[in-house]
Formats: sequence, structure tokens, C-alpha cells
Amino acid sequence: MATSPFSLQGRVALVTGGAQGLGLAIAAALSQAGAHVIVAARNAERVHAAAAQLARHGGSAEPLVLDITDEAAVDAAFAHVDAMHGRLDILVNNAGARKRSNMAHLDAADLREMLETNLVAPYALCRHAAQLMRRGGYGRIVNISSIAGQVARANDVLYPATKGGLDALTRAMAADLGRDGVTVNAIAPGYFATEPNQPMVDDASVAEWLRQRTALGRWGQPEEVAGAAVFLASPAASYVTGHVLAVDGGYLAHF
Ligand SMILES: NC(=O)c1ccc[n+]([C@@H]2O[C@H](COP(=O)([O-])OP(=O)(O)OC[C@H]3O[C@@H](n4cnc5c(N)ncnc54)[C@H](OP(=O)(O)O)[C@@H]3O)[C@@H](O)[C@H]2O)c1
Repeated sequence: MATSPFSLQGRVALVTGGAQGLGLAIAAALSQAGAHVIVAARNAERVHAAAAQLARHGGSAEPLVLDITDEAAVDAAFAHVDAMHGRLDILVNNAGARKRSNMAHLDAADLREMLETNLVAPYALCRHAAQLMRRGGYGRIVNISSIAGQVARANDVLYPATKGGLDALTRAMAADLGRDGVTVNAIAPGYFATEPNQPMVDDASVAEWLRQRTALGRWGQPEEVAGAAVFLASPAASYVTGHVLAVDGGYLAHF
């Protein structure tokens, strides 16, 4: 039987923030598609638990305790990946930070801090990954952005700027790395029921607002972002680059 163009068999993937929420759902789906998944985040207990969970479901996974804003630790992590696997085929820049407030309460230092996690660190990881991908002859970078990169609301003044920057960086890196056979795309999730959103998930008025505001009329579940990531990471997406794919229940398409 011919190999599915969605198969990730034999690929090595690194998912930042892969220990919970959207990152864990993406890590699980990449692993189900056949990739060996390196699950990276700061909390050691959680990364070990996530890697063990993927293994229990028949996948191949390993934990990596990493703060993506620590440059020296990132350098060491990529040296480790190279030494252990000799390749990296897929990078999912999923770890993200958000402080929700307005201009009266968020200053330039807050913007710098959020940019470090949402833009500077993903760029540093992409530079490392691109080196291994060029050498390995296969490269898929998937940046987890947000619909907030394209639309904004009051009381959330900085996060959209960091994600809009990530969208622009995705296009710029796609242009830069295309000749090397490395594709760079982003996913813009809408409203997903993950831990940081739990207070909103518990608020019936938010559910009612989403019922009216999105085409599908509901919250997204973390697993629902994962198919897009597998597609963008797979051979099936070989001619897709520089794209920001909304996975938002029709939020951006509907008003
Ligand atoms: N949930 C949504 O509705 C939604 C919508 C649009 C976009 N997004 C984006 O999707 C991504 C994941 O969101 P989520 O809701 O799944 O978030 P989450 O549940 O808070 O998970 C974030 C993950 O990132 C890790 N992380 C944070 N800072 C890190 C750092 N400096 N170094 C390494 N790992 C770090 C966290 O683990 P540690 O704390 O252990 O490091 C955690 O595993 C984010 O980029 C977010 O902006 C989410």
C-alpha cells in the first residue's frame, strides 16, 4: 500500500508548550501520524507526564525541559536534538504568553516580555531548526499564532501585536527558507477551551456570545486544532508556505 501523504512516519518533531492545551493536542496528533515527538516546556513534571501519555497511546515521544526564552538553554537543546536524532523535520512553535489588560495597565516592559516568548524565542528556534532541516532535506515550521493577530478587542492591547508580528515573521521566513525546501506556516486558533481560558469557559455569557459570534456557534476543543498542524507538517502540504490558517470555528469569516 502506498504511504499516505499525511504520514509523518520517521519524522522528528519538536513541539514547544507541548505539555498541555493546544500543544499537547498537536503533539498527540503528530505522534499518531507517526512522528517521534519531543515535548518541550518549563514544568518538568508536566513534560514528563505528556511524553508518557503519548507513549501510552502507542506513540514515540520524549520530554524536554526548556524555557524557550533562555537562549543558552535553547542552544543546548538543539545540540542535544542533533546529537540524539541527527535531524529535526518539524518544529511547532506553540508556547505563548498573554497578559490581558488595557494601555493604562500594560507598559513597554510588558510588551518586551511578551515579545520575548511570542516572537523572539520562536525566531531563535526557527533559526536553529532551519539548520537541521536544510541538512535533513525536509522542513516544516508551524507557528501557533491567533485570530488576535488579525483582529483586536479592548482590554487585550499587547497580545495581538505579538501575534500579528508572528504572522508577518511567518511570511518573511517562508520567503527566506523556501529555496531550502523548508515551509513556514502559521495556525490562527480562535476560542479554544484550554486552561488559561477556563474562567471564560465557565462563564455562560461567553458561550452565548460565541454561539452568535462564530459560524459553528461554540468553543473549539484542543483536538480540533491538531489536524491543521498534521497537514502543515506533512508531505501533503509541500506547496503551502507563508500561509496563516485560521482554525476558529468561522470566527474571522462571520459577523
Ligand atoms: N487557547 C486558545 O483559545 C488560543 C487561541 C489562540 C491562540 N492560542 C495560542 O496557542 C498557544 C497555546 O495556548 P494554550 O491555550 O494551549 O496555552 P496553555 O494551556 O497556557 O499552554 C501553554 C504551554 O506553553 C508552555 N510555555 C509557556 N511559556 C513557555 C516558555 N517560556 N518556555 C517553554 N514553554 C513555555 C507552558 O508550559 P510551562 O508553563 O510549563 O512552560 C504550556 O505547556 C499559545 O501560543 C496561545 O497564544 C491559544
